[in-house]
Amino acid sequence: MNGVRDPRMLAFDSVEKRYPDGTVALRSVSMQVPQGEFCVILGPSGAGKSTLLRMVNGLVAPTGGSIVVDGIPVEEKTLPRIRPRIGMIHQQFNLVLRSSVATNILSGALPAISTWRAVTHLFPERYRRRTCELVAAVGLGEEHLRRRVSGLSGGQQQRVGIARAFMLDPAIVLADEPVASLDPKISRDILSLLKRESRDRGTTVLCSLHQMDLAREFADRIVALRGGEVAFDGEPADLDEAATDSIYGEIIAGDLLIQRDRPKIVARA
Ligand SMILES: Nc1ncnc2c1ncn2[C@@H]1O[C@H](COP(=O)(O)OP(=O)(O)OP(=O)(O)O)[C@@H](O)[C@H]1O
Ligand SMILES: [Mg+2]
Repeated sequence: MNGVRDPRMLAFDSVEKRYPDGTVALRSVSMQVPQGEFCVILGPSGAGKSTLLRMVNGLVAPTGGSIVVDGIPVEEKTLPRIRPRIGMIHQQFNLVLRSSVATNILSGALPAISTWRAVTHLFPERYRRRTCELVAAVGLGEEHLRRRVSGLSGGQQQRVGIARAFMLDPAIVLADEPVASLDPKISRDILSLLKRESRDRGTTVLCSLHQMDLAREFADRIVALRGGEVAFDGEPADLDEAATDSIYGEIIAGDLLIQRDRPKIVARA
């Protein structure tokens, strides 16, 4: 990567989100993510991880505070400028199953091309070349380009999802639980790939995860949310037992118990 790293590639300042039904998903969240950082967002179910990620590309609008992406405030009128600079990777991959690998990867260019090209599927040649480059980068090989996505394994589908996210050489990649539906071995492969690609390209990554062991292994930095607030912000090595307790410590709420060693809400025995 060339040039000076921007220490404020992504900045949240006192961000709040109250959904129309009154649910407060985030309360005064402030954090800055420097360029090139692999920042993992941890936290129990309902902590606000997806809400935080979806605010970066304007899928969810804050009800307080502000978000700045690469120097541009995230607002309705700036979204056309911001969205091509952000790639997104989803838990359920969000691919068009009946379409080919090539078409799915190419669709990552949609935010940058005109409507008539999108409708007629006439993608400029440079995006077709980039599709070939990316399919190789994610370890699939060009022979996969014509295959239907529905015939691929989950791990292969997420490789396509990663290739699509990098199509426009984004400044930021948002990954919302990208390995939640994959087994542990494939999860490691996918996170290794995401980390390598982002490091090689100088991309900033905001990645939500449920698994603390994976967060420890892959994150440059971990920010943990609990009840919509930042409960921890530091390096993986600082995530000791006390910090873990502050994130997942037993919360008894009615009949629900959040277990410390298994950060999911389960029915109380
Ligand atoms: N569209 C919505 N309308 C109302 N409440 C919502 C909406 N989306 C999310 N919430 C609520 O906001 C809170 C945060 O939700 P969010 O999906 O951001 O959490 P999360 O940390 O991503 O959870 P999970 O780990 O289960 O994916 C939760 O209480 C959730 O029920
Ligand atoms: Mg979520």
